[in-house]
Amino acid sequence: MTADPMLPFDTEVDGNRVEHGDAYDLLATLPEASVDLIITSPPYWGLRSYGQQHDESVLKKWLDLGNDVSDAPSYDWYRQNGGMLGLEPLPEWFVAHLVEIFERGKDALKPGGSMWINLGDTYFARWSSIRENGRQGLGGNARERRRTPMGGFRQEKQLLMVPARFAIAMQDNRWILRNDLIWSKPNVPPRPEVDRLRLSHEHFFHFVKRQKEGRPKYYYKLDQVEDGTRDVVEVNVGSGSGGHSATFPLKLIKPRIVSSCPPRGTVLDPFCGTGRALTVAIETGRKAIGFEMNEPFVKAARLGLLGVSKKEQAQGGKRER
Ligand SMILES: C[S@@+](CC[C@H](N)C(=O)[O-])C[C@H]1O[C@@H](n2cnc3c(N)ncnc32)[C@H](O)[C@@H]1O
Repeated sequence: MTADPMLPFDTEVDGNRVEHGDAYDLLATLPEASVDLIITSPPYWGLRSYGQQHDESVLKKWLDLGNDVSDAPSYDWYRQNGGMLGLEPLPEWFVAHLVEIFERGKDALKPGGSMWINLGDTYFARWSSIRENGRQGLGGNARERRRTPMGGFRQEKQLLMVPARFAIAMQDNRWILRNDLIWSKPNVPPRPEVDRLRLSHEHFFHFVKRQKEGRPKYYYKLDQVEDGTRDVVEVNVGSGSGGHSATFPLKLIKPRIVSSCPPRGTVLDPFCGTGRALTVAIETGRKAIGFEMNEPFVKAARLGLLGVSKKEQAQGGKRER
C-alpha cells in the first residue's frame, strides 16, 4: 500500500483498508478467492474528470499507429498514453476497458461470490461537456468542452445504451447476469430539453461467476432485500459526501451487501470514492477493502473507516446479522 504522509493512515484497521491507486493494478494484487462481494460504481462514460488529468490527444496517438477508431486499445496502453477511465473518446473503448478491469477481479472473487455494478447512461453529443465534478448539464461548476467522434450509433441526441452494452460485453466475457436492477431516482433535477423525458434511472447489474460444471451457485439471502423483492427500487439521489457528488445512497446498497455477502465476509469496492459501501459493509459485520485513485477521496474514505471502526469497537461489534 502507498505510504503517504498526506493520508491519515495507510495500514489496515481491523482487517479493513483503503488502497490508493488504479483499480486495474490493485485488483490483480488480491489473493485468489479472497472476496465475497465486489460492489461498485465505476466512473460513467463522458461525464466527469474527478480532478484527474486526461489527455485528449490519446485518440490521435492511437490512430497515428495505424489503428482503426473502433478498435479499442488495451486499458494499459490507453492510460500510459494519458487516457483516463470514463473519458475514453468512444463509449466502445470505455466498455472494453471496464470489462478488462473487472476481469482482473475475477480470480479474487470466491466461486460463490457476487459482483454488483452500478452504471448510468449518457446521451451522445458531438460537442460534450466534461465536468470536474457535479452533475452533467447542471450547476455552475467548471466544465470543459470536447469533440467526440461521430459514426455508427454515435449520433446526435442518441441515448447510448452504455449500461446495456457493458452488460452484454460482460456476458460475452463469461459472467452470468442475474439481475438488471433499476434504480429509480424520483428526485432527479429538471432538465432543459423539451423533446425527451428526464433520465431518472440507473442500472445495478448483479453478476456471478460461471462454474466449471453445472449451474452457478452463490451466496444469496432473499429475506435481506427490499420488501416485495422486485428488481426496481426507488431511492432518492443524495447530495453527496466528502466532496464527492456520486456517493452511493445507503438505501440502495445496504440490501445488496447484506443479501450478497455473508456475515464476516469481505466486501470490495474497487472505485470506492469516499467509501460509502465500505462503511455500510463494516456496520453490517462484514470486512471492507476499497481502491481509489483520487487522493482526497482516499483520505475521506480512510477517515470514514477509522470512524466506523471506532464506533464498532465502542459497541462491541454487536451489529452482526
Ligand atoms: C462513481 S464514483 C464512485 C463513488 C462511490 N460509490 C461513493 O459512494 O463515494 C467513481 C470513483 O472512481 C474513481 N476512479 C476513477 N478511475 C479510477 C481507477 N482507474 N481506479 C480507481 N479509482 C478510480 C473516481 O475518483 C471516483 O471516486
